[in-house]
Amino acid sequence: MAEVTVVLGLNYGDEGKGKVSTFLADKCDIALRCTGGNNAGHTVIINGNKIVFHLIPSGIVNNGTDAVIGNGVVIDPKVLFEEIDVLKKHNVDLSKLHISTRAHLIFPYHIVEDNLQEKLKEDDKVGTTARGIGPCYMDKANRIGLRVIDMYSDSFEKKLRRNIKNKNKVFKLFDFDTLNEEEIVKDYLKYRDMMKPYVCDTVSYLHKAIEENKRIVCEGAQATGLDMDLGDYPMVTSSNPTIGGIQTGSGLGAKDITNVYGVCKAYASRVGEGPFITEQVNEIGDKIRELGHEYGATTKRPRRCGWMDLVALKYAVRVNGITGLALNHLDTIGKLGKTKLCVGYKLNNKIYDEYSDDIIGFENEVEPIYEEFETTFDIQGETDYKKLPKEAKKYIERIEKHLGVPIKFIGTGPDNENIIIR
Ligand code: IMP
Repeated sequence: MAEVTVVLGLNYGDEGKGKVSTFLADKCDIALRCTGGNNAGHTVIINGNKIVFHLIPSGIVNNGTDAVIGNGVVIDPKVLFEEIDVLKKHNVDLSKLHISTRAHLIFPYHIVEDNLQEKLKEDDKVGTTARGIGPCYMDKANRIGLRVIDMYSDSFEKKLRRNIKNKNKVFKLFDFDTLNEEEIVKDYLKYRDMMKPYVCDTVSYLHKAIEENKRIVCEGAQATGLDMDLGDYPMVTSSNPTIGGIQTGSGLGAKDITNVYGVCKAYASRVGEGPFITEQVNEIGDKIRELGHEYGATTKRPRRCGWMDLVALKYAVRVNGITGLALNHLDTIGKLGKTKLCVGYKLNNKIYDEYSDDIIGFENEVEPIYEEFETTFDIQGETDYKKLPKEAKKYIERIEKHLGVPIKFIGTGPDNENIIIR
């Protein structure tokens, strides 16, 4: 039987999806990315070297695993070829890489627009990764985006020049530097040739793989809280990192999906602006950041840190149809001594144990309701659930009770092998 396993972030990204995907990819035929672009980052160990990938599914480093960049991904070719170069240096077989004809391309003007739009938002800036992701998806929705397949059409150069000219007019209007049209055209004609060996009708490729009983792992990017429709709009990314994005970003059908694993941490973190009800802007938040090494893989920004929020997680479990959970950084809370778990919200004397629209816009007034747990344990590298101390199991069972989903993977340290499989 074919199997399609999806790995999704349940909070605000950086939950450690890469670790679970890498574990699953060891046993799969195809590793797939469906949404986002090089705003994501996952660290992979190749021959003992730590390498951060932003676009190519990390599963490609395994022998026998093909990698697919699906139609929902936005591709900055400069970043793509930097990653390909690294893989070539480590003798990874690049004939295993397949890039969708329908994926949209990021151009240098998208990066300038990202900075310009953030500036124009004044106090309401999102704190984007400034990689041009939002503007690329905007052009896609505006029907002026250029896809991988468009590079091989006779009208590509004409359309690209038109876009550059129009964008330059806007940049001038706002006193931003304009871009060099000739340089961009030259670079993208070069990328067109370089990309050709990888370009593929990935929708057909994936469905054929399913007919051949292959096992596919979809590595999600970003997370539910950052979803354009279901997250904390407008402090979101410009795609759908929830389950719907996996389908539209790959062409897989609903019935093709076997398992949906949701990843979260034993605490919570967020980068960029936006609500974060359990945030700890104090010594505890600083301690979590240092113990959990919470600095962005893509932008190196220090992450905002706080307690795990079961109200927000219950919502994420529901909207994605999560069938199993992965809980990372259980070892980290073992170093905190005491850990709080948010089990409800209080707003205007009303108690909420599940997410409600009443909360939107009132995040700063919500009072989180916490339960406190003793967490003094050293479980670094533990791989056997039976050997976990009672306090650690108590924390896990409380989470499972609230969310109604089993925790199948538990992260016990930074290395890929530091994982308990239940
Ligand atoms: P954008 O995706 O660069 O437009 O950024 C929009 C928001 O999503 C910002 O708050 C970013 O910090 C956040 N974001 C985007 N990608 C990631 C990610 O991979 N991890 C965590 N946050 C992300």
